[in-house]
Amino acid sequence: MLLTRQEEGLLSGEFGAGRAKAMEILKAVGEIYGADRLIPVSSAQVAGVSYKTIGDAGLDFLEDFAAKGAKAGIPSFLNPAGMDRESWKEMGIPQPFAEKQLRILKAYTSMGISATCTCTPYLIGIRPKLGEHIAWSESSAISFANSMLGARTNRESAITALASAIIGKTPNFGLHLDENRVANIAFEVRAGMKKLTDFGALGLLAGKIAKERIPAFMGLGKSATEDRMKSLGAAMAASGAVALYYASDITPEWKVSESAERIPVEQRQLDEVKAKMQSANSVELVTIGCPHCSLAEIKEIAWLLKGRKLKVKLWVCTSRKVKEEAESAGYAGVIRDAGGLVVADTCMVVAPIEQMGFKSTGVNSGKAATYLPTLCKQKVSFKDIEELL
Ligand code: F3S
Repeated sequence: MLLTRQEEGLLSGEFGAGRAKAMEILKAVGEIYGADRLIPVSSAQVAGVSYKTIGDAGLDFLEDFAAKGAKAGIPSFLNPAGMDRESWKEMGIPQPFAEKQLRILKAYTSMGISATCTCTPYLIGIRPKLGEHIAWSESSAISFANSMLGARTNRESAITALASAIIGKTPNFGLHLDENRVANIAFEVRAGMKKLTDFGALGLLAGKIAKERIPAFMGLGKSATEDRMKSLGAAMAASGAVALYYASDITPEWKVSESAERIPVEQRQLDEVKAKMQSANSVELVTIGCPHCSLAEIKEIAWLLKGRKLKVKLWVCTSRKVKEEAESAGYAGVIRDAGGLVVADTCMVVAPIEQMGFKSTGVNSGKAATYLPTLCKQKVSFKDIEELL
């Protein structure tokens, strides 16, 4: 991989040990994947934030890295942490966990990375444009940015996204190159797609079949709102490794190979996927917001809960900005009155729910339904919001 003189300087430590380390990481990745050079990126989204997922080793790495003095050179922001930074006591997060989590956030913010702590930065105004190169590392955010916005990002790891945040560049390979952005499997959707869980189930099915291929969808219909598409992309990234998809009349780009394998999908198959994900008969916790909720989704929950009382705990997961908007609009108050919580900065998968004693969780997300049994030891109920509530 060719490096400019300035990049050589960064690598040799001319601009400090932190930047040298970041350059070393980008150079190594670029060489492994055959990149010709580094290209500028306009933003970085850094995963690896929850103490539950990165543990003490991750915390030590971050504090050590931060001590080297490296700072983000481009707009950079964080994925969800293991708790709401402000309301963690209300959530019931154990104190030792909270202390470590706050140290992780401090290490990141000292490097100039904004503690947005969300997997839906595109819902709070961070919306890269068609053709814009970025370095994002949360799988559903990657999928949304590549597909629904037409931006260009590979599936960055927490460490490569951090290195890109500091250097402002990424190796030029994979989905940054137009020739690698062509769909080679096409799903002809013949299901009604009336519910959000239909999109989650379709994502789980398509991701399993597509694996690392780029899928295209035909026939998603008018009910494919942005919220439903974020659920589809998240599920596909969880059951497969799909970082980009196309959907006819929905995504800004449509590049499908003429020889793409065509696969019909019927409602019956989606219902089978939903039944397979169901492992709990009753739940102790209901969590909505994987990916993080939009204000419209929170409004719908508030509408369903108005004047009612919940029998189990409810967390509505979202970004801090959307939580503030939900507070101002009165939706968070309605949810609180019913006995639920709107929580920011975290989600059901990266919060330590298993340490908090929960054993069964209700979700309306294909991605959460996939990860909760393995990462959080939960039995799962995968249903639409109306049924869960
Ligand atoms: Fe976001 Fe957590 Fe789901 S990071 S996509 S809410 S698993």
